[in-house]
Amino acid sequence: MPSFRTLDSLNPAGRRVLLRADLNVPVRDGRVTDATRIERLLPTIRELSDKGARVIVLSHFDRPKGKRVPEMSLKPLADALSAGLGRFVAFADDCIGEAAERVVASMHDGDVALLENTRFHAGEEKNDADFSRALASLGDVYVNDAFSAAHRAHASTEGIARLLPAFAGRLMQQELEALEKALGSPTRPVVAVVGGAKVSTKLDLLGNLVGKVDCLVIGGAMANTFLAARGFAVGRSLQEADLHDTARAILRQAFDAKCQVLMPTDVVVAAEFKEGAAHRRVDASAIPPDQMALDVGPETVAAIAEAFRAARTLVWNGPLGAFETPPFDAATVAAAREAARLTAAGSLLSVVGGGDTVAALRHAGVVEQFSYVSTAGGAFLEWLEGKQLPGVAALAA
Ligand code: 3PG
Ligand code: MG
Repeated sequence: MPSFRTLDSLNPAGRRVLLRADLNVPVRDGRVTDATRIERLLPTIRELSDKGARVIVLSHFDRPKGKRVPEMSLKPLADALSAGLGRFVAFADDCIGEAAERVVASMHDGDVALLENTRFHAGEEKNDADFSRALASLGDVYVNDAFSAAHRAHASTEGIARLLPAFAGRLMQQELEALEKALGSPTRPVVAVVGGAKVSTKLDLLGNLVGKVDCLVIGGAMANTFLAARGFAVGRSLQEADLHDTARAILRQAFDAKCQVLMPTDVVVAAEFKEGAAHRRVDASAIPPDQMALDVGPETVAAIAEAFRAARTLVWNGPLGAFETPPFDAATVAAAREAARLTAAGSLLSVVGGGDTVAALRHAGVVEQFSYVSTAGGAFLEWLEGKQLPGVAALAA
């Protein structure tokens, strides 16, 4: 992990601090429906403001593709930030130019302002040098607290960090420290759970993990691809028939690296994929031709729980079954509860990330009990893949 400067080495009093946040939160009818990213960001804003900084918040929102799209304005987020902070948050309806300059010029020490969506300018995603300079001209220092956007080499996440003294915010620092503990220099044995629908989206992840962890649990529909690659009939289960060779190569790689792979030995099948559908447990070798596997079975869950009990560190990305559609949430809920119990008992450090994974743990009612829950989706995945995140690399001290 590259070393980076934190707020411990910044005296921001009286300075204009450009704070890159990730306010790309779910919003419906102008209301934030999941405020997790906002809540996790507030300590950084509070600390900077309390120390007398003029805090200028930058963020993207959704994917307006370089144009001003009124529905993708950050304006409602100024109110959400203000409510969370209990302080007034000014808003500028552009992130560069006169509108931004006017708001910044009117700030006093300790004030907080939010600038409009950086992605309203095409220069943002192009990491355009002029656009980066225009952003940088508004501040004296740069603080990046947007780990969840750090896999993007954009002007506000990468270009600007090269133009101003750059620091990691508290949330960025937390994310990096948690991930370092989980995979950089973990307490062994390490178990990783990888689930979700497709092997194709997790190839790099699996490839990197087999070289790093002691035990790899493969769940979700992607497990069907592995079962099929091993010669099992998977009936009407979702799977990727063109990836059997790839799946076998991953298993070989795991074998060479002495990484134990836990695949389902039993699954829960149904003839139709809908809530409350008639279902039953079958051996993974006996999936009927007219049925589909929608969850891993209880015998598999017991093996996963045992792997958790043997482990000291757990990294989790992706649900074990179709958890949004009960009863196919059973395995994910049971495994999540065991991980939570072991974490509470002090025998497991548990780190999770990815939107659907966090939603699954919330559904299981245990999200608070995990050691660390990342705010990132794509960035968490790329980090687990062993890739360098441009937004993090640019902070390297
Ligand atoms: C996210 O929500 O995943 C981040 O904010 C990044 O957004 P993006 O996928 O549109 O770049
Ligand atoms: Mg994304």
